[in-house]
Amino acid sequence: MFDKLCVIGVGLMGGSVARAARINALSNNILGYGRLEDLENLEAAKRLGVIDNYTLHIEEAVKDADCVVIATPVESIESILALLQPVWSDRTIYTDVGSTKGSVVAAAQRVFGVVPSNFVLAHPIAGGEQSGVEAAVDDLFVNKRLIISPLNHTCQDALQQIRSFWERCGSEVSLMDVEKHDAILAATSHLPHVLAFALVEMLGHQDEQNEIFNYAAGGFRDFTRIASSDPTMWRDICLANKNEIIPLLQQTRAQLEKIQSLLEHDDGQQLFEIFAYANTARQRFLNQFEGNMTKTITFKVQPGGMLQGEARVPGDKSMSHRSIMLGSLADGVTHVKGFLEAEDALATLQAFRDMGVEIEGPVDGCLTIHGVGKHGLKAPKNDLYLGNSGTSMRLLSGLLAGQSFNSVLTGDKSLSGRPMKRVTEPLALMGADIKATENGTAPLYITGKAGQLHGIDYVMPMASAQVKSCLLLAGMYAAGETSVTEPAPTRDHTERMLSGFSYPVKQQGSKVSITAEGKLTAADIDVPSDISSAAFFLVGASIAPGSDLLLKHVGINPTRTGVIDILRLMGANIEVLNERIVGGEPVADLHVVYSPLTGIDIPEALVPLAIDEFPVLFVAAACAKGQTRLSGAEELRVKESDRIQVMADGLQILGVDAQPTHDGMVIQGGAIGGGTVTSHGDHRIAMAFSIAGLRANADITILDCANVNTSFPEFKDLVHRLGLALVCEES
Ligand code: S3P
Repeated sequence: MFDKLCVIGVGLMGGSVARAARINALSNNILGYGRLEDLENLEAAKRLGVIDNYTLHIEEAVKDADCVVIATPVESIESILALLQPVWSDRTIYTDVGSTKGSVVAAAQRVFGVVPSNFVLAHPIAGGEQSGVEAAVDDLFVNKRLIISPLNHTCQDALQQIRSFWERCGSEVSLMDVEKHDAILAATSHLPHVLAFALVEMLGHQDEQNEIFNYAAGGFRDFTRIASSDPTMWRDICLANKNEIIPLLQQTRAQLEKIQSLLEHDDGQQLFEIFAYANTARQRFLNQFEGNMTKTITFKVQPGGMLQGEARVPGDKSMSHRSIMLGSLADGVTHVKGFLEAEDALATLQAFRDMGVEIEGPVDGCLTIHGVGKHGLKAPKNDLYLGNSGTSMRLLSGLLAGQSFNSVLTGDKSLSGRPMKRVTEPLALMGADIKATENGTAPLYITGKAGQLHGIDYVMPMASAQVKSCLLLAGMYAAGETSVTEPAPTRDHTERMLSGFSYPVKQQGSKVSITAEGKLTAADIDVPSDISSAAFFLVGASIAPGSDLLLKHVGINPTRTGVIDILRLMGANIEVLNERIVGGEPVADLHVVYSPLTGIDIPEALVPLAIDEFPVLFVAAACAKGQTRLSGAEELRVKESDRIQVMADGLQILGVDAQPTHDGMVIQGGAIGGGTVTSHGDHRIAMAFSIAGLRANADITILDCANVNTSFPEFKDLVHRLGLALVCEES
């Protein structure tokens, strides 16, 4: 891209720019420039291969350079520009990485009169506490934001080239004017640094007297991490952006005074409100941050092994969602045990906090929900972000359709591609006003129609518990009766939990009905282990010779046990022990030992009862003798991924004869080989291929596994403890 790239200042930033340029093949001649006092650092940069060469002479540095990156601290930019001024060339593009932009504009104006049009102001939002070229890395800018602040007269071609340079380094580039850039950075970066430095300076003196740091722990370390940054650099940044920082310090002082006064007056309620708002706001930041900076997680599985021992897999996802929803709408305080602390259920929890519900926990799966009553939700201040969770979005769309406030539901890339018409269409028949994209996908813009919904008698075109539950929740706010008839039985946790909360629901055969006449009374909920998570172990132990496993306290609601029925039809040895009813749901311990499996035609009636378990059942089929055929399962194409295509692709890579059909798959059992497959960000695909490792004859690498955290964050540790050689690599 740039035949010659000149980097002025080869420290952490400049060194990382040079490294990123090299690794992304953006230049094959990278020259560093520094002053005499930088000589040692420049020599180190050359020795480490960060730059090809260096010079202490500015003319030599910039001669014939296509691009010059000024990567020195902001306060030295003026002197660098003054050095560059006599040798400034119209054929070169100049850019910087300074974290304040107004000061750079002012410096350039002082040197040149006007900022040259081939000087493109840029700021990568990336860095580290260390300094010096030794700390420079190849991927400092990958998945990081980079702000370009164009001026009116900035040359478009230069801007495009700098934009493309950073995009090719892996950054996400946005354009923002200088004033906005400086105001935002002052609030989100400069002020926190000032506060961290100020606090540690104050407490540091106390520590000298009383050794208080001996007792400081993770909270102190996390809060003060940025006080380890380079003091010179931060002094200069703060001085350069003081006009933005000073008013923010005034606001901070007022905020601290408010908190002081609340403490003086023992005003716990207001204090809680401030802390709870902050908690929610931080979660919003984390969602965006993690959404933007998705970590890549790869599972690597060594072949063989067996599953042995005893385990309790995490709480049921469907019930966890519903416990938050109904607990929030109940009158009184609901205690939940066994709550699934995974991203999907936490997305629902956050949504209800955003609507003003006070929820304590989760701590070890326990929650206390201070119900606000059926009409007590408050308008959320922002969009409700539901991550990867289809259940959250579909059920909430029904619940929110009849509220007295408007709301917007958003989700991650996968959720934003999943069909929502299945809920928006019947809700529209009830009088709801929900706008989706042209394709019928999220974001969903919901206009609350309190008092205006009316019941319908709806026959579902597909067997979906999410659609059924959505309409039942809407029916709690609709005039008259809302009835839903399902073409085949689907999970009935909503109906059971409504009854548990004393809300009347009528079941007649395949039809379930609800009205607005009723209220929810708080009830304690004990969420059993999720049979969908247990399924990976049921299959794993069934296919791996020598396995013998006891899975404790698993929910065996008959609308969820299709996986046990299918595996038994294939010859699996699964015993259901110690059956009991816990909080209105059947629960048991499942004992599974290895047993050779035989291929079957999976009865279509079992499909909705095992809908989430097919990825791992396909693995069972790959290990079975003969052919397994699945049909009537087109719903699998619209789950977190197209589970028919993605599993067929992966199994074929592993050498299995797996032929996808429009509504299922035909698999010839045989040997499973090794290879690299991708989960396409689908948690259950990632876990299913991990389990395949138990019977593979070579290593399996599974890409894109971060979303295992949506349903089963403990999976990798648990499966490892029980006998599968799985390692998890993060980058
Ligand atoms: C769920 C219902 C199922 C299932 C999903 C959870 C629920 O979806 O796949 O993981 O909690 O109601 P459908 O009802 O759309 O099949």
